[in-house]
Amino acid sequence: MDKNKSEKITFDIIKNDEKVRAYIKAGDNALKALGFTEHSFPHVYKTAQTAASILSDLGYGERDIELVKIAGLLHDVAKDFTYERQLKIISENDIILNAVEKSEPKVVHAAAAPAVLRGEFGVSDEDILRAVRAHTLGGEDMSALQKIIYVADFTEKNRDFEEAVGIRALSYTDLDAAARLRRLAGEKNRLKGF
Ligand SMILES: [Fe+2]
Ligand SMILES: [Fe+2]
Repeated sequence: MDKNKSEKITFDIIKNDEKVRAYIKAGDNALKALGFTEHSFPHVYKTAQTAASILSDLGYGERDIELVKIAGLLHDVAKDFTYERQLKIISENDIILNAVEKSEPKVVHAAAAPAVLRGEFGVSDEDILRAVRAHTLGGEDMSALQKIIYVADFTEKNRDFEEAVGIRALSYTDLDAAARLRRLAGEKNRLKGF
């Protein structure tokens, strides 16, 4: 992908990029090996679709919808990297982990991903980069796009547990409330050790 053409990145370009597909596919294989039936490709597609449909219902325009789909597709791009590789990216890019990230390796992929998006895929849109960074733990002063990715990652249609179904319905009418509930659900699940 041409790093100098980030403004022209589209969902279709990203979706068909061989490296993106390789990274997401690697996630598929890792999940399969662990016995999971939910694979990465369906998850990121559904996240992109869910995010786009929320934004569309909120009345946003085509380019915003395109950007949120790109963020949805790419948010887990560093998820299948080894923990060591994630930490190396974080160290090389002077990324500061918060207290939760320091104690929970499973959320560190979100901290590493923006550097991968910027360095390897030429994504320069700050809203997308922040949305990807915040998709596991949320953040302060999130934009609509950031909230939508945060919520859609949790509520995409493959998620059939009760909290996801309830928050999914709410997200189309009250995005702020959906983001607050998603944060509570995340905190509760982390306390349970999920
Ligand atoms: Fe993730
Ligand atoms: Fe995800």
